[in-house]
Amino acid sequence: MAAEALFRPFSHKTLHLKNRIVMAPMTRSFSPGGVPTPEVSAYYRRRAEADVGLILSEGTGIERPSALNDPNVPRFHGEQPLAGWKHVIDQVHAAGGKMAPQIWHVGSARNPMTTWVAPPPVDSPSGLSSPGKRFTEPMTDEAIADTLAAFGRAAADAKRLGFDAVEIHGAHGYLIDQFFWDGVNQRGDRYGGGTIGERARFGAEVVKSIRAAVGEDFAILLRLSQWKQQDFSVRLAHTPQEMEAWLTPLVEAGTDILHCSQRRFWEPEFEGSPLNFAGWARKLTGKPTITVGSVGLSGEFTEALRQGAGSKPASLDSLLERLERDEFDLVAVGRALLTDPQWAQKIREGRTHELMDFSRESLTTLS
Ligand SMILES: Cc1cc2nc3c(=O)[nH]c(=O)nc-3n(C[C@H](O)[C@H](O)[C@H](O)COP(=O)(O)O)c2cc1C
Repeated sequence: MAAEALFRPFSHKTLHLKNRIVMAPMTRSFSPGGVPTPEVSAYYRRRAEADVGLILSEGTGIERPSALNDPNVPRFHGEQPLAGWKHVIDQVHAAGGKMAPQIWHVGSARNPMTTWVAPPPVDSPSGLSSPGKRFTEPMTDEAIADTLAAFGRAAADAKRLGFDAVEIHGAHGYLIDQFFWDGVNQRGDRYGGGTIGERARFGAEVVKSIRAAVGEDFAILLRLSQWKQQDFSVRLAHTPQEMEAWLTPLVEAGTDILHCSQRRFWEPEFEGSPLNFAGWARKLTGKPTITVGSVGLSGEFTEALRQGAGSKPASLDSLLERLERDEFDLVAVGRALLTDPQWAQKIREGRTHELMDFSRESLTTLS
């Protein structure tokens, strides 16, 4: 099937993209001391040169002591990291690309890949690392206020440096998602509650803080997931009504584009409809959405990260059918673009015989 649907332009506010292909945010840990290097700039530039419509950066930490759990993940505050990011965006723009940083706070999620521990305090809604596992104190009101302000500052810096939009990491069991999840959010104050709508308040306040910092025209993307790295079976919304209760306050707070993270994009979100997460989010909110999860590859990414599983190129036909039906607006691609900077160009030119396998080896370099 021809991939034309992927190569239609897309515009929202001041974000103008030449096509629908988004590079998914992927942590690479190649920024010693939190500072992106020229090699990091060159890595993103290669994707911009080869037809990626929008590049989302790897998760990059806001200014809280424990925002990150890896010293080689880039920060998005401080003179040197921001100078590194300025170089990144200038290189991407020089190649005709568009880019948003993914701003991130890991909350209480630990990193099994490193023994490095961030300085305290660890921020989390209730001091739980996973359900039933308490290891520290819940965030104070002051810590919450400071975190909201730090998200706003990072977004303002993204705009000031010249980025085209900003993405908030609200998925995968990290800080914002910890507030959504009743398994680890047991607060009795306004940030907790028995319903997903109540537990969406912290996320909505992050969006409001960012909106106040960047103004009305700058596009704010928000990445969300039902699944958590701590437990793939968790679901925040069991019905379309619950999903609406979750997403509505986030959209009313100022989210422009919802980035709906699934491990396999073709999996229906609710019984009785083939719509996936991005499909439901678009239908319920009327906002543009991004789908993601095993696009163009045979296996999913957590098996790749945890068990080192490889993947083969896979057909895009069912994705293109959904895109043509406007089930969602944009398509994020992770490992295929990590392995092969030219993936999007090969798809556009129909060079499918040149598509590459994904193997764990590709995680070890910034190619
Ligand atoms: C090496 C690696 C690092 C990742 N880091 C992040 C991250 O920093 N932020 C995020 O939201 N998702 C992260 N992800 C998830 C990807 O954005 C994407 O959702 C996932 O890989 C599924 O897409 P794929 O099947 O096309 O690879 C990461 C995935 C990989 C493979």
